[in-house]
Amino acid sequence: MTHLDRAREIVAQLTTDQKIDLLSGADFWTTVAMPEHGIPAASLSDGPHGLRHQGADADHVGIGSSDPSTCFPTASALGATWDPALASEIGAALGREASSLGVDVILGPGLNIKRHPAGGRSFEYLSEDPLVSGRMAAALVNGIQSEGVGACLKHFAANSQERDRMRADSVVDERTLREIYLTGFEIAVKESSPWTVMCAYNKVNGTHASQHRRLLTDILRDEWGFDGLVMSDWYAVADRAAGVHAGLDLEMPGSKGTWDGQVRRALAAGTLAMDDVDLAASRVVALALRAQEERKSHEDGAAVDLDAHHALARRAASAGSVLLRNDGVLPLAADRSIALIGGFATAPRYQGAGSSQVNPTRVDTAYGALHERLGDDFAYAEGYDVKTGETDDARIAEARRVASSADTAVLMIGLPDSYEAEGYDREHLRLPEGHTRLLEEVLDANPDTVVVLATGAPVELPWAGRTRAVLLSYLGGQASGSALVDVLFGDVEPTGRLAESFPVLGADLPSRATFSTHPTQALYRENLYVGYRFHDSWGVPARFAFGHGLGYTTFDVSNAKTAGRGAKRTVTVDVTNTGERAGTTVVQVYVHDVASSVPRPEQELGAWSKVTLEPGETGSVALPLDERAFSFYDVESASWVVEAGEFELRVGLSSVDIRATATVRVTSGGDATAVPAPAGPAATDAELSTLLGHPLPTPEPTLPFDRETTVRELKASGLGHVLRTVVKRASEKEMGASIDEDPVALGFYESTPMRVLAMGSDGKISLATIDRIIDALNLTSAKVRKQRRAQRS
Ligand code: BGC
Repeated sequence: MTHLDRAREIVAQLTTDQKIDLLSGADFWTTVAMPEHGIPAASLSDGPHGLRHQGADADHVGIGSSDPSTCFPTASALGATWDPALASEIGAALGREASSLGVDVILGPGLNIKRHPAGGRSFEYLSEDPLVSGRMAAALVNGIQSEGVGACLKHFAANSQERDRMRADSVVDERTLREIYLTGFEIAVKESSPWTVMCAYNKVNGTHASQHRRLLTDILRDEWGFDGLVMSDWYAVADRAAGVHAGLDLEMPGSKGTWDGQVRRALAAGTLAMDDVDLAASRVVALALRAQEERKSHEDGAAVDLDAHHALARRAASAGSVLLRNDGVLPLAADRSIALIGGFATAPRYQGAGSSQVNPTRVDTAYGALHERLGDDFAYAEGYDVKTGETDDARIAEARRVASSADTAVLMIGLPDSYEAEGYDREHLRLPEGHTRLLEEVLDANPDTVVVLATGAPVELPWAGRTRAVLLSYLGGQASGSALVDVLFGDVEPTGRLAESFPVLGADLPSRATFSTHPTQALYRENLYVGYRFHDSWGVPARFAFGHGLGYTTFDVSNAKTAGRGAKRTVTVDVTNTGERAGTTVVQVYVHDVASSVPRPEQELGAWSKVTLEPGETGSVALPLDERAFSFYDVESASWVVEAGEFELRVGLSSVDIRATATVRVTSGGDATAVPAPAGPAATDAELSTLLGHPLPTPEPTLPFDRETTVRELKASGLGHVLRTVVKRASEKEMGASIDEDPVALGFYESTPMRVLAMGSDGKISLATIDRIIDALNLTSAKVRKQRRAQRS
């Protein structure tokens, strides 16, 4: 008997009120238990790259404290490893730590596609490419779940920006949704059967993801076969009854009955079926039963070996470090004297802010690791204020002096904490001015400079060509400092490859015009042209291309051969290590459809393999391509289609470094409906409306006030101003800190919708009260009165 069958039997014995109780969490991190009915609780915890297991001071923005846990590299670094086996190992370590803390489900991995690198949570996501995202996420899930702990794919779906994240509408055409934004989830669901999926905050084509039946049931369950539980992102519920019907099983966190009345009324009115409630409640119970069973069978598990996990974090950090440029200076020769410059050497940036923030078991700094290696035999200068990124003349003078005193300067720069966080997006991709100024001065004082970048996402690097090397550490987790020294001296090779393009300018990207620019809507005008799909299709080179990364040796790829039939092919290539030391590379195959009846990106990643070879060794690498690698989504027939014709299979070491090609012919393929090609990478209104199949939706107005009105927008009325202050005081009291001083708290507070004021009030404020406040705001607002007069006339 499956857990769901057992759960259904239990739920059949419950009253309606008890069933409704089960549909929301008991509190911030647990589901409702009913011991008298044999229903245990399940406990959930953030987050993707380490546990954020909290006690009493629970929050979902990473402000309260949490138990110490290993902080692994964040997802952008993990994506850059292109190493599913390593991701599984990390997943298993996360699972063990979760299990030891009594956590049943880890709220991760996050696998949203990085529509624009300025997204505040880019560091929490794996890639701009759905295949990399899906496969790496599946590997993580398999690792986590191998330890009897559930994983949670998040945030489903099209959750691409932080601005107004709880209500902005992602307007995206069906083909793009399928090919870019859903494919990663589809792969992960099919390859790893996650216990749970978390819906996103945003709307998708006009409907909140938390009540999107097409996404949560038709696609996720009926098409892909997902059989676990769907939970809401924290406070993502906008209409609970609609959510239950849509397939949102569990509201998180619990909102102390905020929505119970609404669900009861919908049942009474017949707009919600009891079957839907039964099913959702049963899935909650099934999760709890499953968790209980796993807990029992892991009771005698070995104690967690935190040293081993730290060592794993260190290995992962170098595997995710990407050597963007190197003129031969790296690895550093042992006889060179070194100047270490940059405050990140002593106060490292190794993770991002928000709900994923881990309280690490320990932190290795680059300064400490270098000291361990060289003793006092190196010079150090701080260069900038770590918190603000600002510098001053005294710091610059000191940095110049230190830089010129040594053979090589190792300059650690990047983005300060406040630049990339959950809750808001970056406005540009530049480094802080202080870091750029320091860089120019250090380069001037000593051209023999190696730049080490600590950022969770792409930044503009106009100066890269003037350095001797640029090493991207990403946000490498708690062992990033020691991993950096391993890599600088060549004890370990950096084997990361970019799983996202580094554009020359953020403004180059066609998503820029509509990314994080509007309070209620994001038109995905760039359709398929995200990341390398844009750069390669429209001839706008990236500064560093998708798939790029150097190592400490060189490789050649040759002799591409194909085997297989139709759209199931394997490309085999010879890969030779042409350098003088053993090394690792990532061989990638891109599929180019030679002629197609629909516009297609110039090429798309079809498979990859990470290989290690001895100097002079040649290995044969097989890259299997499945049908999907050749297909596109045909909206008319709602199916994936491979058209007959020629496909060029391009094998190389990045999307622009193709070393060998082979052509295959698919002789019988499916029929596709011809689709007009937009004239540019960003669709015009007319083109987008053709892609959408309907006129462009009018963005929701921010006035009159309604349940979606955010705290920021309360400023539009005098009464709202007062309310803002009250809410702020109450939140500050609860947090015990000033909101203005914490950018994450501020971002979150400003974008909180009115409905969430009720949901987060511990049952003190009802939705009815919120509605009355909204009425009062509208009655007293001159702007709303004017708007209403204008509408009447
Ligand atoms: C985030 C989720 C996270 C949840 C719980 C939300 O704000 O979007 O990723 O799992 O909080 O902390």
